[in-house]
Amino acid sequence: MENPWWHSGVVYQIYPRSFADADGDGMGDLKGIIRHLDHIAGLGVDVIWLSPIYRSPQDDNGYDISEYQDIDPVFGTLEDFDELLAAVHERGMRLVMDLVVNHSSDEHAWFVESRAGKDSPKRDWYWWRPARAGMEPGTPGAEPNNWGSVFGGSAWEYDPASGEYYLHIFSRKQPDLNWENPEVREAVYAMMNWWLDRGVDGFRMDVIDHISKDTALPDGAVPPGSLYGVGAPHYMNGPRNHEFLHEMHERVFAGRDEMLTVGEMPGVTVEEAIRYTDPARGEVDMVFGFEHVFVDRGPDPWLLYPLQLTKLKAIFGRWQAGLAEVGWNSLYWNNHDQPRVVSRFGDDSPEYRVRSAKMLGAVLHLHRGTPYIYQGEELGMTNAPFATIADFRDIEALGHYAQAVDHEGRSPEDVLTVLRARGRDNARTPMQWDSSPQAGFTTGTPWLAVNPNHTEINAAAAVQDPDSVYHFYRRLIELRHKDPVVVYGDFTMLLPGDEKLYAFTRRHGDAELLVIGNFSGERVRAELADAEAWASAELVLTNAPAPADLELEPWQVVIYRRSA
Ligand code: GLC
Repeated sequence: MENPWWHSGVVYQIYPRSFADADGDGMGDLKGIIRHLDHIAGLGVDVIWLSPIYRSPQDDNGYDISEYQDIDPVFGTLEDFDELLAAVHERGMRLVMDLVVNHSSDEHAWFVESRAGKDSPKRDWYWWRPARAGMEPGTPGAEPNNWGSVFGGSAWEYDPASGEYYLHIFSRKQPDLNWENPEVREAVYAMMNWWLDRGVDGFRMDVIDHISKDTALPDGAVPPGSLYGVGAPHYMNGPRNHEFLHEMHERVFAGRDEMLTVGEMPGVTVEEAIRYTDPARGEVDMVFGFEHVFVDRGPDPWLLYPLQLTKLKAIFGRWQAGLAEVGWNSLYWNNHDQPRVVSRFGDDSPEYRVRSAKMLGAVLHLHRGTPYIYQGEELGMTNAPFATIADFRDIEALGHYAQAVDHEGRSPEDVLTVLRARGRDNARTPMQWDSSPQAGFTTGTPWLAVNPNHTEINAAAAVQDPDSVYHFYRRLIELRHKDPVVVYGDFTMLLPGDEKLYAFTRRHGDAELLVIGNFSGERVRAELADAEAWASAELVLTNAPAPADLELEPWQVVIYRRSA
């Protein structure tokens, strides 16, 4: 397809549990989303991506699905869903669902049947293995290999009834599906087709670079101080990953040209992303890479490093160049797994929160690719003031805390410091609609505490204020929709060695944009070769008074446009 619609599209992600609660049980729901659709439509976005709303024991907030073709009662019913879908379509937007098929819930009928015994017809739908050779099943160290689970502990759960173990890269309630088995793949494709026939417009595919594993399941290297081996090299971007995605494309998306597919791929490199998103290969439209959100962490994900802007720019620069001719980029700072970007890379103090949130938004949205906005990002929502571990709800945070404190001997205060900065619950505090006691999110008790700063930071105030982050994002989206240079312009990184300024140009036909973002709390002047010419170009958008001679205020961003 030449120039698919999503090249100029912008996606808004809803985390339903934390978006809006219509029935007062403290948990967001579909009716709550329906109530607030005009907030999203008002931004001008093209697509809504819904995090999982399927039936689920909610061990990982819905990323553990026990019935793919139904809605969890916490969120509503299939009728509510159809109403939501129609309401989204009425507003000229599309709806993309989350597809979580690397694993199911252990309460899914498939797994229940698989677990029934070694000769169950669905035994091979999951990864069952005997104990390590020569070891007594169920004893310490007898797991089939040494992989740790992403959420702490071993990646294997022992099943005393059969004396075997099953693999779970995530929680023990998220057993990995065995994609080697063609019946599994057929069942997944049938389910996907069922949703598309119902009218949904595509899928965001959860950890979809994990579906093909090295079937030998070899031990992983054990990092110093760790109890477990790293399995990722053996289950990320595995030998048949491209093959499986191409097959899925053939079975599900061929002939459905208008669909949007984006694969979440924690381990993807640019080189692999080119292959995954090359339209000629028929796999996915774009991927979520992780290199840029791993920029401030080291080999040990649970240590904090400050942002090094030159490193961030090098990563984005490589992805922009790598996907310039073939494939397409996704662009994101935030989602339900990442801390709030204004707290992470900006300055969330009262003085600079709004300005730095706008700068971050502009820098991201002016890259080439499809931008994703995570709920609350358009308000400049911040990380939350978690006091103790009891304030967290996320299985990853709790699992990491237990492992680090109880088994690895790390200090509780150190672990909390990291969780406050990195924990996924930062993104999951309820959406801040207004300044009322529960931020207008619920009339009951929210499942995760509302951020106390909702008295200042909320949608009602932002919509009223023409200078808010909300209206700035609206302008960014408008710019993308009306100016082809934003969508198709070539990307050139400038000042790659500068630790404060993020600068680049985009060029398309005779139009050229210059974007400079100041990632610092100081005034900084951009030393560009043709600074003078640019200083007199049209200033399309900024978040502070127009600069003289490209000397930017703290956290200022400027977007200039000229035509040759
Ligand atoms: C993805 C999801 C994350 C979830 C994990 C397991 O990374 O975004 O929220 O915990 O996969 O499904």
